[in-house]
Amino acid sequence: MRQILVAGNWKMNLLQSQGVALSQALAAKYPSSAAVEILICPAFPYLSPIGTAVRGSAVQLGAQNLYFAPQGAFTGEVSGDMLKDVGCGWVLVGHSERRQFFGEQDELLAKKVSAGLAHGLKVIYCVGEQLADRKAGQTEAVLAKQLAGLDQVSAEQMANVVVAYEPMWAIGTGVTATTEQAQQAHVFLRGQLKSRYGEAVAAATRILYGGSVKPDNALELLSQSDVDGALVGGAALKADSFTAIIEAGIQAQTLKG
Ligand code: PGA
Repeated sequence: MRQILVAGNWKMNLLQSQGVALSQALAAKYPSSAAVEILICPAFPYLSPIGTAVRGSAVQLGAQNLYFAPQGAFTGEVSGDMLKDVGCGWVLVGHSERRQFFGEQDELLAKKVSAGLAHGLKVIYCVGEQLADRKAGQTEAVLAKQLAGLDQVSAEQMANVVVAYEPMWAIGTGVTATTEQAQQAHVFLRGQLKSRYGEAVAAATRILYGGSVKPDNALELLSQSDVDGALVGGAALKADSFTAIIEAGIQAQTLKG
């Protein structure tokens, strides 16, 4: 049984006091283990204080990006070692905003995935088509190609990888994929994982949906048999909306038995 993961991607939002207050509220609500996994990914400068705020609670800490080299002359970059050192257990790789605004491509992303895993971080690897791809009937081709970011990952390492399906046209737009569109893309991705890694890995790997997940659509999305969690942007920035999505996750986990 795949445990639902509700992950908040704070992007470049919230100053320290706001982020600490939000993380303290979440930690107070989920002080020990929860029925679902809970993760927050704040901006780099605040990982340390926010890690302190959630320590010992069910809320886990992740980063939004990393660089693949272990250390050295890479001005402005942050290594997996550093993330581990400040208490991160997770890192996002290949978010569509990294692909779109920072030109990150699958070859670089594959190195980042490997570096994250090598440093003991769990990786959420993001894929997703643009609206033009979907309109041109290219969704599956695009998703299959983007999975090249996992080319260097072994079947054993897949235990520490989560895939996130985030259609770019649904991110921050208020437009959510229909449950059918989400489920269909997730089934396709799981099929791709099966041909890469076999049945057992494909069945065990969590695939999250992301793109305008809100309290009022979370339960329906998370109840889909192949939707194993949510990667939440805007609605993760407030305790009440993020908590409502976590609660929907707990309900969906119960429904899935
Ligand atoms: P959104 O962002 O929930 O604000 O659409 C999701 C994401 O980019 O991870």
